[in-house]
Amino acid sequence: MKRIGIIGVGEIGRAIVMGLRHGGDESSEVFLSPRGARTAAELSERYEGVRVCADNQEVVDRSELVIIAVRRQDRRDALAGVRVDDDKIVVNVMAGVGNDDLRQTLATGAPMARAIPLPAIRERRSVTVVHPSHPEVNSLFERLGGVLPVADEDAFNVFSALTGTLTTHYTYLATLTSWAADHGIASEDADRYVRSLFQGVGRSLNDETRSLHQLAADHETPNGNNERIRTTWFDQANSQALTRALDALLTDLT
Ligand SMILES: NC(=O)c1ccc[n+]([C@@H]2O[C@H](COP(=O)([O-])OP(=O)(O)OC[C@H]3O[C@@H](n4cnc5c(N)ncnc54)[C@H](OP(=O)(O)O)[C@@H]3O)[C@@H](O)[C@H]2O)c1
Repeated sequence: MKRIGIIGVGEIGRAIVMGLRHGGDESSEVFLSPRGARTAAELSERYEGVRVCADNQEVVDRSELVIIAVRRQDRRDALAGVRVDDDKIVVNVMAGVGNDDLRQTLATGAPMARAIPLPAIRERRSVTVVHPSHPEVNSLFERLGGVLPVADEDAFNVFSALTGTLTTHYTYLATLTSWAADHGIASEDADRYVRSLFQGVGRSLNDETRSLHQLAADHETPNGNNERIRTTWFDQANSQALTRALDALLTDLT
């Protein structure tokens, strides 16, 4: 794919541009919408072949594949009157906006796929879930760290719900750090130590020959400290509360 457009150049739009240019790759031209002006200007100054267009229609006209990355509530404003010919490919990354909804807004017969890019795409380090599978869309995200095409929108929504757990994980780590600080440990020492502990967890996840349960068992001594925290804190009630929260999110996404 030689010409890629992005309408909505915020956090995820920026991450996609950085991913496309990762390692000095200049194989595609990138066209950005003018809104999110500061980010768009910064990206076009930083990278060769990344240009800011006069309006959203120009982004579509110059691109073979257009990524829609505005906030859900801005989509109608951003796309009002924008014409998308059937020979374009549209990638919808807006959480909670189905392809039917976007197709109605754009009134186009162009092929359309939903995708869940994550910020780590900027370093080509995250797998992107896509539905429906489309060869050009798949190869774009393959290049950006990997692609996981799923069969239907229900499956897509399950993956989308999983991505809603990320900030809870960071907050869990922040809570551990605060707990240590409350016990007299210097905040920077607690922070450094917790980061180091969980970077180790991150590295061990790379070993795909071990299941997640096996990895947990590898780190646990019978009757030891890890088993104690797991069984006294992440007990059945806590685990069920998480499952209920995910179920409720999934209902809303569906
Ligand atoms: N952040 C993530 O990790 C992530 C991951 C996957 C999917 N998404 C989805 O991606 C979308 C954007 O999320 P984000 O976190 O990147 O939000 P964001 O940082 O707020 O970026 C949204 C961008 O859209 C721009 N915009 C608003 N109205 C526009 C218009 N009429 N025409 C063109 N651009 C317009 C905004 O410009 P102004 O700054 O000028 O308002 C802003 O730069 C959301 O639908 C979200 O669900 C986000």
